[in-house]
Amino acid sequence: MKRVLVTGGAGYIGSVLVGEVLHAGFEVTVVDRMFFGDTLGAVREDARVKCLRQDIRWLDGAVFDGVDAVIDLAALSNDPSGDLDPEMTLAINHRGRARVARLAKEHGVRRYIVASSCSVYGFQEGILNELSTPNPLTTYAQANIEVEKSNLPLADDTFCVTVLRFATLYGLSPRMRFDLAINGMTLGIWEKGTIPVLRDGTQWRPMVHVRDAARAFVMVLQADTAVVNGQTFGAGSDDQNVQILPLAERLATALGKEFKYEWYGLPDHRSYRVSFEKIHKALGFEPKFTPEDAAREIALALEEKRVVPDMRTRTVEWYKNLLYWHGVLSEVVLNDVVL
Ligand SMILES: NC(=O)c1ccc[n+]([C@@H]2O[C@H](COP(=O)([O-])OP(=O)(O)OC[C@H]3O[C@@H](n4cnc5c(N)ncnc54)[C@H](O)[C@@H]3O)[C@@H](O)[C@H]2O)c1
Repeated sequence: MKRVLVTGGAGYIGSVLVGEVLHAGFEVTVVDRMFFGDTLGAVREDARVKCLRQDIRWLDGAVFDGVDAVIDLAALSNDPSGDLDPEMTLAINHRGRARVARLAKEHGVRRYIVASSCSVYGFQEGILNELSTPNPLTTYAQANIEVEKSNLPLADDTFCVTVLRFATLYGLSPRMRFDLAINGMTLGIWEKGTIPVLRDGTQWRPMVHVRDAARAFVMVLQADTAVVNGQTFGAGSDDQNVQILPLAERLATALGKEFKYEWYGLPDHRSYRVSFEKIHKALGFEPKFTPEDAAREIALALEEKRVVPDMRTRTVEWYKNLLYWHGVLSEVVLNDVVL
């Protein structure tokens, strides 16, 4: 059986992805600092799963021995978190992941997939695609560009490298994120009957469900290398490019609530619409879920207390807490602890 190593495997995408990768017939090694705690739940009991609480910046290359593929997710995972400490963001999101790819190749791993983001487009008019010039407006977006630039050239006949530029994700995950637009708006409806909308609501974003995102990774993992090697793909769907205010109204309707909203934040300077034709044509990727599906599943999970909207679910707030109160982000102490 083949083994896939997932960095950031206990995160929002990772803790959904690990189950999908197991389901596809692989064994899994998770490498994660567990900044948000141990969110792997039942999966951790699976004999095919190995979990390493380590930091990608100091990871020993030996962990890649016997690994067939790497999915590289570990990062400070959004624009505001990336701005808390720009140097640390570049150290993890760019240099850390560049190191993961280099070590993986040196240790005989055959495939490598890295999670980038459509946020590399920043603010642009028109419909963008993989050939459009990026316009990174934040450290987080810049780090994604840098990791694409450093890791794609490692592609050759022995090492298949693919970049997936994800739309903004939504949906339920064991490591829940209410700082993501659809999840946060759903929480607002559920808690107060009022949807928080980031000013001025006309900004465009492509969206994709977290379970569809996990499926996209597995499709790339199983694809013919001739199709995906050295390639960058947007990961999302053309019909899920949305403007934030009309999206809020759709979510209220899906939950059978009156549409009430309140503004927050400074006017969002990011806005982009993306074509996902390339991944659709090359791999047949087509999302199965919609924002309405996510609103309903999240509201139900809140109702049944399967998800609790505590500080850990707000990524930047939690990282602020770790950085300023505990200095945890820069410690090496967790290295080599096998859970
Ligand atoms: N969620 C989205 O909307 C979205 C969209 C596009 C791209 N992405 C990318 O997907 C990846 C995963 O995002 P997510 O939403 O699951 O974020 P997340 O914050 O939930 O997960 C990131 C995980 O990485 C771990 N981590 C952070 N720094 C680490 C380090 N130095 N060493 C080891 N582990 C470390 C954290 O503990 C966490 O479990 C990120 O690279 C992110 O930029 C996410």
